[in-house]
Amino acid sequence: MSLVKWVNFPVKGDERGSLVVLEASRSVPFQIKRVYYLFSTKEDVARGFHAHKELYQVAVCVAGKCRMLLDNGSEKQSVWLDSPHKGIMLEKLVWHEMYDFSEDCVLMVLADSYYDEEDYIRNYDSFLRVVKKNHDT
Ligand code: TYD
Repeated sequence: MSLVKWVNFPVKGDERGSLVVLEASRSVPFQIKRVYYLFSTKEDVARGFHAHKELYQVAVCVAGKCRMLLDNGSEKQSVWLDSPHKGIMLEKLVWHEMYDFSEDCVLMVLADSYYDEEDYIRNYDSFLRVVKKNHDT
């Protein structure tokens, strides 16, 4: 299964400009329970460095750009998030890191559950152990 899964949002454009609609279970493939966004990020500061046990998310750069590294424990891939009409799926048990933020970057994330620190795996070795255990069962 491919590590990088893009979610393309249709753009409704006319001479006045462009508009993207994000709807639960339509353009976004789950029921959205939470939306958060990162802004005023520093160009030389990386963030993320965690995976989730159960959470599914879609991340989209609505302004500016940044890079995202995805890592499922056996494969790593790094992509640019640089389009307001292209999101990336952040599935459960995928370690992710964000970096190379442009000054104007606004990274919006849609999530299928409320914030729960218990769902985070913030230690990379623990992440590898959970992934391995998951494959073995
Ligand atoms: P953190 O997970 O460290 O951000 P990132 O993964 O982007 O590096 O979150 C920063 C802080 O915000 C941390 O104290 C947890 C808090 N937080 C919430 O309270 N609710 C949320 O939905 C999120 C995503 C973070």
